[in-house]
Amino acid sequence: MSKCKTYYVTTPIYYVNDVPHIGHAYTTIIADTIARYSRLKGIDTFFLTGTDEHGQKIEEAARKRGKTPKEYADEISAKFKELWDEFEISYDKFIRTTDAEHIKGVQKAFLEMYKKGDIYKDYYEGHYCVSCESFVSPSQLVNDELCPDCGKPTRIIKEESYFFKLSKYQDKILKWLKEEKPILPESRANEVIRFVEEGLKDLSITRTSFDWGIKLPKEINDPKHVIYVWLDALFNYLTALGYGSEDESMVQKYWPANLHIVGKDILKFHAVYWPAFLMSIGYELPKKIAAHGWWTRDGEKMSKSKGNVINPKEVADAYGIENFRYFMLREVPFGADGDFSEKALIDRINNDLGNDLGNLLNRIIGMAYKYFDGKVSSKDVEKYYAQELNAAREIIKDIEEKYLWKMQLHKFLEELWKILSIGNKAIDAYKPWELMKNGEEEKAMALIGLIANLLAMVAIYLHAIMPKTTQKIADALGFEINTQTFEKINEGKLLEDFVIKKIPPLFPKIEKPLMKKVEKAKEPDNIITIDEFFKVELKVGEVIEAEEVKKSKKLLRLLVDLGEEKPRQIVAGIKEYYKPEELVGTQVCVVSNLKPAKLMGMMSEGMLLAAKDDEGLSLIRPEKKKKVGTPIK
Ligand code: MSP
Repeated sequence: MSKCKTYYVTTPIYYVNDVPHIGHAYTTIIADTIARYSRLKGIDTFFLTGTDEHGQKIEEAARKRGKTPKEYADEISAKFKELWDEFEISYDKFIRTTDAEHIKGVQKAFLEMYKKGDIYKDYYEGHYCVSCESFVSPSQLVNDELCPDCGKPTRIIKEESYFFKLSKYQDKILKWLKEEKPILPESRANEVIRFVEEGLKDLSITRTSFDWGIKLPKEINDPKHVIYVWLDALFNYLTALGYGSEDESMVQKYWPANLHIVGKDILKFHAVYWPAFLMSIGYELPKKIAAHGWWTRDGEKMSKSKGNVINPKEVADAYGIENFRYFMLREVPFGADGDFSEKALIDRINNDLGNDLGNLLNRIIGMAYKYFDGKVSSKDVEKYYAQELNAAREIIKDIEEKYLWKMQLHKFLEELWKILSIGNKAIDAYKPWELMKNGEEEKAMALIGLIANLLAMVAIYLHAIMPKTTQKIADALGFEINTQTFEKINEGKLLEDFVIKKIPPLFPKIEKPLMKKVEKAKEPDNIITIDEFFKVELKVGEVIEAEEVKKSKKLLRLLVDLGEEKPRQIVAGIKEYYKPEELVGTQVCVVSNLKPAKLMGMMSEGMLLAAKDDEGLSLIRPEKKKKVGTPIK
């Protein structure tokens, strides 16, 4: 890894059916971290992100809001881009699948696969999940109907479709998965391998029942088809580099991708379909595909209906984007699901960042000024503190290979914090104030020097995760964060002598939650409880007499038997819809505990249930005849 000259890292491209949330921010922050780290090492790096804008889901989301799909995509895509810019995400390209160059590239790929004989026309009949934009085979369905991935109801579609010969690539994919081990964390590989071993069916790759997608290449001349959104989307990783354009030099330079970062829900598309498409067009396969887990909030799945979706901007505004980055990467082992709670975030900021890191810096700033006018020297660090220094060097020696490139970012941070702990323990063990008292000035200065060097190591390795914060640490310690310093520190070189700068605390203590409380999704204000409902007494009755109320256009006077001592008189506004004679002997549903009221001088002792729409009024009656007086529940 450390030897590669170029590095290409991608995020998934985000659907524009909804605004960015914490899950999107997580993927993007991981990718940004890897890209920044790679650049710091001096590797020529390309970092791609963007938006996935075609397909039925987007078409329907746009229609619901009365917009064209393109208008809607423009609006939401801009929101993603704005957020990433605000978060200073260091992407090199933001691709949109509605970009003309992308469309051209996808059509080229489709044609290549077609010419190769990997695409044939047939008919698709089966289940489709619009939310996942995925075809679901009958054996995968939950309760014969629900999508196994998102749990939403699938739709049955029947349409002419082109198919990709996925089955043809089954053995090759399996071999690749087993030999190259491209999936990270490796524990996730088994489920993909099992999926392939169960047998790959050819994949439907065009749709005809809607329009919002890329048309087939004109050479195929079949205008009613649009290309399946996942085929369209996956090719963004190549079209972003110019695949399908006049200039493919970037493809030569950066392909194959070193790392696709994805969520666990879309691993199959990246680790099975994508390599098959690439094999078909004769391109190399990506080196690694890393799948992270899902975020929940306070232990619950986030959803719009619960109103508990976390807006990453709100978190960043309240706590700072870099603290948020640290929290996300530290809190959850990569690949596992994680829970966002404000309390956990505050604890990380106050403890890990404030106590372990920020205070260590403040402690040596304080000591350096108290004892040495701010001067710090590394001259005698090896002499007095070789053991501490070497322990820290040991930690950074393989931190990158063991953890960073394997996406074990929580471990990577855990290791860095061990270095801070060496520093904090050294102060407690050697007590510089006592050294000074005992006239061991050289040793006290060396201790401050040791801590400064430990902080420099941590700052440089932490830089990709907290760029600005570590810049401030570097400023205080008089060094620059760049590839040269990175190399020097790795070679074991110590900091030049410097005067430490006083800086305000990096992580002021957070005393109370700073985010606005989650507003629970509002209940409609006409909700009643079951007890309230049961206050209404409903009964089956039988009309035993009916007559028109003279001088009234609307009213009929009925006598209704409710199984009580005597029938009730009910005056009902149904004259325009029913003749008295057709009512006699029929059953009706009556609100029987309504306070009696006078209508046109007549007492009405109940109300009939009826439904009225443009076509008129219909009484609600029991489907089968029931005993009069039967309660309706
Ligand atoms: N458009 C496809 C990807 C195409 S890539 C060629 C897509 N888009 S998405 O917007 O639905 O999801 C993008 C990423 O966000 C996925 O990796 C998904 O796992 C991630 N997340 C969405 N919700 C999430 C959480 N609650 N937590 C963590 N990540 C989750 O899929």
